[in-house]
Amino acid sequence: MRKVLAIETSCDETSVSVVSNVGDTYKIHSNIIASQISDHSKWGGVVPELAARKHLELLPFVLAEAIKESKINFDEIDAVASTVAPGLVGCLRVGSITARSLCTLHSKPFLGIHHLEGHLSSILFSENYPKKSFLTLLVSGGHTELIRVEEKRKMQSLGKSFDDAAGEAFDKVGRLLGLGYPGGPAIERIAKNGNSGRFNLPKCKISDKQGGFLKYDFSFSGLKTAVLRLVEKINIEGGEIPISDIAASFERVVAEVLVERTINCAREQGLDDVVVVGGVAANNTLRKMMISEASKKSIRVHLAPINLCTDNAAMIGAAALFRLKFKEHISSLKLGVSGRLPIDRATYLYEENPPF
Ligand code: KG4
Ligand code: ZN
Repeated sequence: MRKVLAIETSCDETSVSVVSNVGDTYKIHSNIIASQISDHSKWGGVVPELAARKHLELLPFVLAEAIKESKINFDEIDAVASTVAPGLVGCLRVGSITARSLCTLHSKPFLGIHHLEGHLSSILFSENYPKKSFLTLLVSGGHTELIRVEEKRKMQSLGKSFDDAAGEAFDKVGRLLGLGYPGGPAIERIAKNGNSGRFNLPKCKISDKQGGFLKYDFSFSGLKTAVLRLVEKINIEGGEIPISDIAASFERVVAEVLVERTINCAREQGLDDVVVVGGVAANNTLRKMMISEASKKSIRVHLAPINLCTDNAAMIGAAALFRLKFKEHISSLKLGVSGRLPIDRATYLYEENPPF
């Protein structure tokens, strides 16, 4: 059994986890998550400097709790991992310096993990996850991306959002409807009582310079603006804002766009397995629509466990355990952090002389 202690501090959750694997079976021994949502909600979104300070305050306690709850002695841990890119730089530094200090003091290997690879590795905790090539739809607050994943974690980004990420659109529309932060869970809750067919909101596309549209890319800022205009129009007319109908119509259109483009991409790429991960993957409308539409095309869908969709350290630990299968995938202790690093460049994190 291989065991990893993992740290996630890329945004507004301070999380530490102890995970293990035996062959293809992955297990969580502890996964402590201290959410900072209440610290940021009054500002309507994450305040980077505040988030970094909170990580500094919380991490020692979260770390102690994760080790205690795992009932695993620190000496038994095979490696320590932390998210090092992408994310809020000040926040990433807190996790990275803690992980590297532990590795230096206790002579353990260090693995810097790409946050998006962490999200897609949350699928390793589900039953019958795909072992060969698959397509990942990663939908979070910071990213909306279609990623082709080959064996040995060779990853290629096939499409992404050119403006707002899907989760960001949920958060902005949530704020606009007065539902607070984060908008995703609040919109999902209120949309349950709404009529999703009442408003016809746009499915925005990105123009291709060669003509037509980019078929695997996304744009959500036009959709957010359409909701804003709709609310303004109803306000001018003096009507009451039908919040649940707007929320339901918005949620439906986001799910339709994500499902249509993902299934087309999987078919054209010849991939039979689709993995859906990230905070927005917790959305039940998206989960149900993806399963029902994919089954019509004989595509298998693997959904991240709901409790592992939003940021957590267990998924970072799973990514590290997977990388540990290949001896050469260990990071230098000189590795720093990067606010932006495309998923295609995740191998930078295992170079002897890392570029940052
Ligand atoms: O993956 P995550 O925790 O953080 C990033 O890496 O960005 O995702 C957070 C995002 C937020 O934008 C939040 O509104 C969205 O995921 N989210 C949801 C739901 N739960 C969280 N969006 C739609 N429906 C949900 N149930
Ligand atoms: Zn995330």
